[in-house]
Amino acid sequence: MTDQAASPLSREERAPGLFIALEGGDGSGKSTQARMLAERLRAEGHDVLLTREPGGTDVGERLRSLVLDPENAPIDPVTEALVFAASRSAHVRQLIRPALAAGRTVVTDRYVDSSVAYQGAGRELGTETIADLNTWATDGLQPDLTVLLDVDTATASTRRDARQQAPGGLGPDRMESEPETFHHRIRQAFMDRAAAAPERYAVLDAGRPAEDLAADILAGVRSRVRSRANGTPEARR
Ligand code: TYD
Repeated sequence: MTDQAASPLSREERAPGLFIALEGGDGSGKSTQARMLAERLRAEGHDVLLTREPGGTDVGERLRSLVLDPENAPIDPVTEALVFAASRSAHVRQLIRPALAAGRTVVTDRYVDSSVAYQGAGRELGTETIADLNTWATDGLQPDLTVLLDVDTATASTRRDARQQAPGGLGPDRMESEPETFHHRIRQAFMDRAAAAPERYAVLDAGRPAEDLAADILAGVRSRVRSRANGTPEARR
């Protein structure tokens, strides 16, 4: 896509579109579920933008290659946090806000919580510091619903290994090469975020068959759409 300057909505203005983020650790099956959700919502008549982080825009995709490429290791944790935030800022301003303003449904594979979990907790930069940085980067845009796919670290590790060893599989990226303790801190940070604002989250056990999980995710989204239509107080900024 081209990098067009978007006319950002003010914080107070509530865009008509629905904004859904999928979050979870590496090996939670998130990307598959994001695709399945987008397909199902399209079948129900939603005009869906399926996107991902880091990435989504030309600049964002370039920042993604830069920050995940093992050849660029080591990258200082603060630099890393700023690169993810820079990619997200482009994503929100150029793609997500304009799509929401046009009434589209946005499904993103990762968003702010990934930075809070990976850089704030995983890299130990502090979850509040990273949350604040990202509030600035996104002008406070929050999803209507965050679907957190939780899977125990042992299952996630087995899935990551299988993905990397599959024919044509890529080797581990800079995050995937980190030790179990790093992934454990990330899992806990995701759960803490969800516990702090339960009305905005659907926390689901991702150790189950993909079809079962997809059905639960869709049910969670439908429920959020209904409560939004009824004017719940936690309207997105
Ligand atoms: P990706 O291949 O998309 O992993 P996955 O399929 O598990 O989503 O790589 C994204 C990696 O970048 C993943 O390890 C998580 C990490 N990441 C951060 O550390 N901070 C962030 O803000 C984001 C968006 C991703």
